[in-house]
Amino acid sequence: MSVSKEVKRITTHVLQEMKQKGEKIAMLTAYDYSLATIVDESGIDIILVGDSASNVMAGHETTLPITLDQMIYHASSVVRAVKKALVVVDLPFGSYQGNSKIALESTIRIMKESGAHAVKLEGGVEIEDSIKRILSAGVPVMGHLGLTPQSIYKFGTYTVRAREEAEANKLLSDARLLEELGCFAVVLEKIPSELTKKVAKQISMPTIGIGAGPHADGQVLVLHDMLGITKSFQPRFLRRYLNLFETIKNATEHYIQDVKSGDFPSDREAY
Ligand code: KIV
Repeated sequence: MSVSKEVKRITTHVLQEMKQKGEKIAMLTAYDYSLATIVDESGIDIILVGDSASNVMAGHETTLPITLDQMIYHASSVVRAVKKALVVVDLPFGSYQGNSKIALESTIRIMKESGAHAVKLEGGVEIEDSIKRILSAGVPVMGHLGLTPQSIYKFGTYTVRAREEAEANKLLSDARLLEELGCFAVVLEKIPSELTKKVAKQISMPTIGIGAGPHADGQVLVLHDMLGITKSFQPRFLRRYLNLFETIKNATEHYIQDVKSGDFPSDREAY
């Protein structure tokens, strides 16, 4: 008789408990079935189907072009792979800003068509109505403050945000608002460590940092960046755990050589 090992799924409540216990939360992106299977088996807490798919999967310069249909395609591939992690999906640019009815419609499509567990939206008070409406439908919401790549043309650069007092104060008040509204967590992207420390202390929902220093309750990286698949993206906050670009290139060159020389396939690899 085989004994099936029960997998304890990560929920928003588990994440809240982790913050209370001071246990750090690990989050990574994934966009496809095969890599999501590996990442989930490794024991990651949250998988983000990020709109960074626009960059690393589709080769766009920004996250703006990716569509709701494309996000649903990526999300449903990931959901089919995942047994343990909480799967959060980015609402793409244009699917929630300025119109809470459209925000809810976009969210419902993501939840129904992909089977994901939560959505993430960029912004604070500007998108309050959209967040309220999504939460009222019972869908967990993750916020995203600091550098919000969907607003890149407003900022003009990808440099560190909220260094100035006014912007830092707005970020703090947005974080408090997201918590009051009922978001279950917030991503803090590219802000000074000391500001992250303040936010993490002042709010009880978990903060997940990227380029936001060590004081966040958890960390997130883009999978293709930490695996070294993307080569040219080299911000200071990025720790690369592999150089898969070179590893895959070497393997591919080896394969080409074997095919050209007639070494592959051998007799053992034929029928
Ligand atoms: O789209 C994404 O991958 C993200 C992370 C960088 C947080 O939003």
